[in-house]
Formats: sequence, structure tokens, C-alpha cells
Amino acid sequence: MLNIGLIGCGRISNNHFQAIAQQQDAQVLACCDIDEERAREAADKYNILSWTVNYEEMLNNPNIDLISICTPSGLHPEHGIRAAQAGKHVLTEKPMACRLNEADELIRVCEEAGVKLFVVLQNRLNPSIQLVRRAFEEGRFGQIYMITSNVFWTRPQDYYDMAPWRGTWALDGGAFMNQASHYVDMVQWFGGPVEEVKSITATLARNIETEDSGSVIIRFQSGAIGSINVTTLTYPQNLEGSITILGEKGTVRVAGNSMNKIIQWDFADTRNYDAKWEESSTNPNSVYGFGHIGYYRNVIDSLQGKDTPSSDGLEGRKSLRLLEQIYRYTKADKH
Ligand SMILES: NC(=O)c1ccc[n+]([C@@H]2O[C@H](COP(=O)([O-])OP(=O)(O)OC[C@H]3O[C@@H](n4cnc5c(N)ncnc54)[C@H](O)[C@@H]3O)[C@@H](O)[C@H]2O)c1
Repeated sequence: MLNIGLIGCGRISNNHFQAIAQQQDAQVLACCDIDEERAREAADKYNILSWTVNYEEMLNNPNIDLISICTPSGLHPEHGIRAAQAGKHVLTEKPMACRLNEADELIRVCEEAGVKLFVVLQNRLNPSIQLVRRAFEEGRFGQIYMITSNVFWTRPQDYYDMAPWRGTWALDGGAFMNQASHYVDMVQWFGGPVEEVKSITATLARNIETEDSGSVIIRFQSGAIGSINVTTLTYPQNLEGSITILGEKGTVRVAGNSMNKIIQWDFADTRNYDAKWEESSTNPNSVYGFGHIGYYRNVIDSLQGKDTPSSDGLEGRKSLRLLEQIYRYTKADKH
């Protein structure tokens, strides 16, 4: 039985509690939040034995094997480092940090402590994306020419005002680092190492420090060209969260609001699973999707030596590196 302590009982923690509840060989032993009411409410709602406002108290519990970090993004390294130093495995929400050097420190401390580091990139496990990945790994696209991703979502000012960390450089980052981070990850997962990045970002309508909109173009070392367009200003509701891959011998487009639905599947060759592309669509009730369930399964299996991590610290670092490049080449580098 994997015993988990969770820190940060806010919005995304519900996906974690629910995903863990679906595993037979894992349970949440304790939860922690600086907001006492949130910690207590989560414990009541999910039948968790103990709750605390004191992280050290949770870290001192010798029965806890892994800490799941669901605090604001800029706090992930600090919370992860303290967990690793207490000898716990670390699972952190995306992005693993807001700065690459802080992510590197987290990776280093986990290595030094001999604990595993997992970064939640649950969209990689969407059935639609898994099918595309299979085709990709089988080389069915041939040479990839272009990868493009659109994240046209709606986040009103109320959303940013919900918590003081939102829309800040120190703890959140902007539309690329928060809302589009899975899309940045997906584009680099299929595109590979990056050669060159150019971007434009703007804070067009929201009262926040960081960008609410932006476009980036990427030249991959393979020669392929990538682009990502993101805005949180879409009227009146989320319109699209998509990725399109255009290759020499294949074209795929995964759309829906969160890359949950394949709408184009064309390859020069055929495979027996081609018939399944329409079945791979899911209909999640939020853009977070269902991926946390599969993500925890992979984490547990990896810790039991039955699988390899779907996204560990080094994998999570790749998209953070691209995010840093995106910000470096925009006016937003005033932060
Ligand atoms: N994987 C995904 O698709 C996905 C989706 C949403 C959010 N996230 C990530 O999850 C993280 C949290 O986002 P959220 O929307 O749940 O935010 P939230 O503001 O709803 O929750 C954060 C919680 O952390 C608590 N907290 C803050 N500082 C703390 C501290 N020092 N110690 C203990 N608790 C502390 C807050 O009180 C709050 O309850 C972010 O990094 C975000 O990027 C990931």
C-alpha cells in the first residue's frame, strides 16, 4: 500500500483525491493546507485520517511514502525539496517550478536523497494522445513538418482574483506557463529538441502581471516548425485545446477543449488500431481531463518497479525549458 500525504487542498487536489481513491494499493494518509478550513474540509470529504496546517508535521509522519504537491506553482520546488529531504518520494503538479534553476535544484535534491520525482503531465495519458503517440513511435508520420497547438480558453478576471498567486510571475506565470503548459509539453514531446524560439505575448484584458495571450513559433532541431497560440480571453467560453501534427506520411488533429478528441486521422499506411481512432475520444467534465487516474497508476507501478515513469523530473524539465525560452524572447521578460 502506497501511503500519500497531499499538500495544497485547492481546486486540483480534488482530481488527486479522486484518482487515488480509485487505486487499490494507494491511500491518502494526511493532507495539509495553510488554510485550516480547506485542510479540514478535504479530510472530511475524502475520509482522510489526519489533516494539518503544518507541513513539517506531515513530513515527520514515518508512514508516508510520497508527497503530492498541489500548491501554487512557484512553491513546488520548495515543497518538493523539503519532502525529498524528509526521505519522501515527490509528485508535483505542473509546472514543476516557475524557474528552470529551481526545477534543477529540485531534481538534484531528489537524486541526492535517492527518492523519485514525478511531474503530473496527465494529458500525455489521454487515450487520444496515446494513440497518436503510438503512431508517432512507429514512425508513421515520416518526417514531421509542422506541429501546431491552439489553446483558446476563457478565464475571466474572477478566476484570477480567486487567489493572490494567480497571474503573478513569482508563483504562477502567464497563459503559457499555466493554462497552456500541457500544450507546450505536447508540442515539444512530439517535436523533440528545440533549435530556435520566437514569441510575442501581451496582457490585453486581464488585470494581472503576466500575459493573458501570446503566440510562439519554434524551429525544432529536426527542422520541423512548431507554433502555439494561447489566450484566456476567448468569448464566451472555452473553444479549443488542440494539437495538429503534419508529417510527410500522416496528418493528425486532436481537438476538443483539452486534446480529448481526434478529429483527423490520415496515414499513408494502415494498422489494425486505425479503426479505433474515433473510439479514443473522451468527454471530460473539465479541461483537467481524466488523466490523473492513469497518472497515479503509473506512479504506483513505477515505485513498485513494474513500469517506468510516464513523466519524471527530467521529462517535466523539458517543457519548463521551452517555457523559459518563450518568455525570454518576449516583452514579458520585464519580470
Ligand atoms: N494538471 C493539471 O491539469 C492542473 C490543473 C489545474 C491546476 N494545476 C496546478 O495545480 C497547482 C494548484 O492549482 P489550483 O488551481 O488547485 O490552486 P488553488 O489556489 O485552488 O489551490 C492551492 C492551495 O494551496 C494552498 N497553499 C498555498 N500555499 C501553501 C503552503 N505554503 N502550504 C500549504 N498549502 C498552501 C492554498 O491555500 C490552496 O488551498 C498549480 O501549480 C496549478 O498549475 C494543474
